[in-house]
Amino acid sequence: MYPRKPTATPLLYILLFSCLIMFGRALMPSFLAGRNYSKRISTITTCTSWRYAQSLTLQFSTCNDAESDSLNTTPSNDYSQFKKTRKKKKMKGDKGSTKDKRSEFIGKMKAVDNGRWSTLYAPGGEDGFSFLAKSGLPDRSKPFTVLGIESSCDDTGAAVLRSDGVILGEALASQSEIHEEFGGVVPGLAKTAHEEKIDSVINEALANAGLSSVDDVDAIGVTVGPGLEICLRVGCNKARELAMKYKKPFVGIHHLEAHILMARLPFDETAGFITGGSDNIHESKRSIEFPFLALLVSGGHCQLMKCLGVGRYEIIGGTIDDSLGEAFDKTARLLGLPVGGGGGPAVEKLAKEGDPKAVQLPIPLQKRKDFDFSYAGLKTAVRMKAEKIAAERGLDSVNDLSREDRANIASSFQNVAIKHIEQRLKRTMDLLESEEEGIRSLAVVGGVAANQELRSRLEVICSTRPEPWQMMVPPPRLCTDQGAMAAWAAIERIIVGSSDIPDDQEVFARFPFQSKA
Ligand code: KG4
Ligand code: ZN
Repeated sequence: MYPRKPTATPLLYILLFSCLIMFGRALMPSFLAGRNYSKRISTITTCTSWRYAQSLTLQFSTCNDAESDSLNTTPSNDYSQFKKTRKKKKMKGDKGSTKDKRSEFIGKMKAVDNGRWSTLYAPGGEDGFSFLAKSGLPDRSKPFTVLGIESSCDDTGAAVLRSDGVILGEALASQSEIHEEFGGVVPGLAKTAHEEKIDSVINEALANAGLSSVDDVDAIGVTVGPGLEICLRVGCNKARELAMKYKKPFVGIHHLEAHILMARLPFDETAGFITGGSDNIHESKRSIEFPFLALLVSGGHCQLMKCLGVGRYEIIGGTIDDSLGEAFDKTARLLGLPVGGGGGPAVEKLAKEGDPKAVQLPIPLQKRKDFDFSYAGLKTAVRMKAEKIAAERGLDSVNDLSREDRANIASSFQNVAIKHIEQRLKRTMDLLESEEEGIRSLAVVGGVAANQELRSRLEVICSTRPEPWQMMVPPPRLCTDQGAMAAWAAIERIIVGSSDIPDDQEVFARFPFQSKA
């Protein structure tokens, strides 16, 4: 027997020990991921900008933006990876600019989606015109009715519309009370509330329309994206089930298109909604004709778009971080206002009491002469100003500010937020006026379009152009999410001969328009 070297055994133990540590570390993340799973998922699905993801808390959501989706699936957008790189840089003492940090995380992306996403909305096919009636169409030689269902965020909505734009019956279950205590939408709770309400909301809309069954409508439209995936699925599955059961043509609705098309809902200046029609009733005149410019300002989006036809949209500019609705919601939270169903209305109300010039705030993107928006910096500026005022008053926190101070902050924020819109809109109008297409009409749509200050200031812009523009804004209650938008968008799609197949209809958290018309 050969004598064993005395050093061999400790070395072997060290080697074995190191292997065990490495093995353990390799297993650890999956274990931790399991523990954090529900928290992480809710954070990821709720965030509308990468800033939300940073906090990794059960934060609020303004729904639609599908960066949630990209965070989940796009390696370059992996937040944990981003955090690691930042940590390394911090250790090296390299702070980096905000711009660097942003591009580090999301890549050198312009605000506009340039078709980088696999699921694009292009119902008219490559050429934009080849619409297909995949599940058939109702008889379009006479007026037809559509049941619309909306569940993309925190409102369960249903409505029955006739093809001339008459709203026959509506129902809406708002979840504002459910989410109020969380300061914003909690996706899991939203999904459960949709599930609980969807049947009664549909039945109520049918009853209000004087119908007794889904069999009495001629087609069904449902929002399929963008939005909170688990919420979209509730509405989509219900609509699929009904369409298959009653053998009705089915249309999967793009939520942003539905917002835009609401501006085309025939609307009588004096009588309100049109209540009658001709024989050729579904061809009744639209409130705004294609092509037109749309300013979409909602909780998840802030975009300027050329609208060329149903299913054909060209994005001119978009937000590089937060949307206008988010900025309103965050300001509402900062000022201790109700935020359950979106903080915008509360900010608008308080702003009426304040002085819009009382608090100096920077207008975003002054150096960028383009068509994009940014509201993240303004949000921070509002918070810093509020904290400064509180400190000057010898108060512990912003919560202790007087109503007068808070009204001044709300008013100044709203003023600057709208100034940013005004500047971008004027530049876009200059651009369109120089083009041959001759676009001279503007649709202002999405939840924030309900804001009276925004409406009246944009109206002034439109009417004071050298060649005045026509402006169309849906009535305030039709600016925010509801069922009529899904029904009306379905009617517009059906009229151009387009429907989808209910059997395998998917939902899309992220659902960008094809950027080229
Ligand atoms: O279109 P919407 O109902 O949902 C999305 O598709 O995102 O928009 C909701 C957003 C919320 O951020 C809400 O605060 C905002 O619209 N909003 C308003 C007003 N009404 C709703 N913002 C400002 N002023 C309003 N009056
Ligand atoms: Zn919406």
